[in-house]
Amino acid sequence: MVSGSSATDGTGQGIDAGEGNESDRPIEEYPPAPGPAGYPIVGNAFQVVNDPFGFYDVVSAHGDVVRYSIVRNTFTALLHPDHVERVLVSEHERFERYLFADLGLDIGAEGLVMSDGEQWRRQRGVMQPVFTTDRVQSYAETMATYADRAANRWDDGKVIAANREFSRLTLRILAEALFDLEVDPTSDDEAVVRAARAINDRADARRLSTFLPEWVPSLADRRFERTMDEYRRRVDELIGQRRATGSDGDDLLSVLVRAGGSEGCALSEAEIRDNLVTFLFAGHETSSVALTYTFLLLAQHDDVVDELRAELESVVGDDRPSAEHVRDLEYIDAVITEAMRRYPPVYMLFRRALEDVVIAGYRIPEGTILTLPQFRIHRDERFYDAPEEFRPERWTDGSEDDRPEYAYFPFGGGPRHCIGMRFATLEMTLIVATLLRRFDLELLSDPDPKISPTTTFGPAEDVRIRLHRR
Ligand code: HEM
Repeated sequence: MVSGSSATDGTGQGIDAGEGNESDRPIEEYPPAPGPAGYPIVGNAFQVVNDPFGFYDVVSAHGDVVRYSIVRNTFTALLHPDHVERVLVSEHERFERYLFADLGLDIGAEGLVMSDGEQWRRQRGVMQPVFTTDRVQSYAETMATYADRAANRWDDGKVIAANREFSRLTLRILAEALFDLEVDPTSDDEAVVRAARAINDRADARRLSTFLPEWVPSLADRRFERTMDEYRRRVDELIGQRRATGSDGDDLLSVLVRAGGSEGCALSEAEIRDNLVTFLFAGHETSSVALTYTFLLLAQHDDVVDELRAELESVVGDDRPSAEHVRDLEYIDAVITEAMRRYPPVYMLFRRALEDVVIAGYRIPEGTILTLPQFRIHRDERFYDAPEEFRPERWTDGSEDDRPEYAYFPFGGGPRHCIGMRFATLEMTLIVATLLRRFDLELLSDPDPKISPTTTFGPAEDVRIRLHRR
């Protein structure tokens, strides 16, 4: 599989190549991928910074494997599910995750998202059991309780900014799951809340400087670092408390502290701390964005709401929605799936080629950064009829069986797929079930909001919804 010299190495066997006998040719003979022209030195930077989503209209005009450059980096966009599958799953060892490393966004250098190789494998091994279907069910009660409390606070006619409210709600749930802590996201008292807010603000402020060289440290950087230092001290304090009480809780911190002591899978103190930064980053804004768009879409589709309520009526009745109900709430699952198709919270994955590879007959040199854009592939007419329409039934009417598997990958794929996928799905289903029983939704803001291209696919402006008690 190593690149370069032999005639058979590094070929893209069978992938949409259409070039007959390509495996017999030396890799140097494969042409580079086509792509849009850029300016000297900066390449396509201006186009990307000005309109990162519109830039992909330009990109896709060149095919499914498209090269472009930004300052010193060469990128190649992959726009076909088969290529995505190859990079994430079947040939994943030829690519490494490329992520925010030079963005100065502290998401835990020693944690699961940022680590690689042995360090990543060991940590994933320790944490995987915490996120199985059985284990995440223990958080269902917390999820439903917090959703209920939010509903109780909202009077008839209340106008909410869905993005803000869901961010608070998912942060409350996450703080319980990670630390067994009850936090108030509207207060400044808790270091966990301050850190979550700082990470979100930071991701937002970073977007224009992304990929541009020589970020000059500013006052905001230093403030951010101070907040994260405070957070790490707070985590240390909580670790100390767990050790002192010998806690047998099922919050992530307790699990990591216990694993820290067991041979063969020990996590260092720095790894535990950094993973709690990682999870704070990865574990609530993503779900919040998915919920925001689910509600935006539900508020525009009464027929879907009616069907969803009919399902709730038959599965949940007058009970409180719980983990046992969730597996039978198939229509809600289709609704959330479809919302994440239209608006994938993580809208683009990045990988770096560790060796020369050939994809669809094009040579991709080692070091190239590959972009796998969910926001394009999820709306590709080749895989979805009327892709702009919100149609939950496309996940229940059998048409899903005809689609390539990686035409839909909101949680990534392969060994590094989202570890929180089951947690997020359970959480979102319980929140939708709880709130839709209590409220009718009236959308007050733009039905087709502008997207803010930060680390998530959040709306650029508040999604305002008036809630009518039922
Ligand atoms: C709707 C909600 C969510 C979405 C759409 C989402 C999406 C993703 C995606 C696409 C990846 C893979 C990134 C890549 O391959 O480069 C990922 C990784 C990850 N996610 Fe999520 N996520 C969500 C919720 C969560 C939650 C709730 C947690 C934790 C409680 C979480 C923790 C993580 C972690 C730790 C990783 C890194 C895994 C690894 O590298 O081994 N995510 N997520």
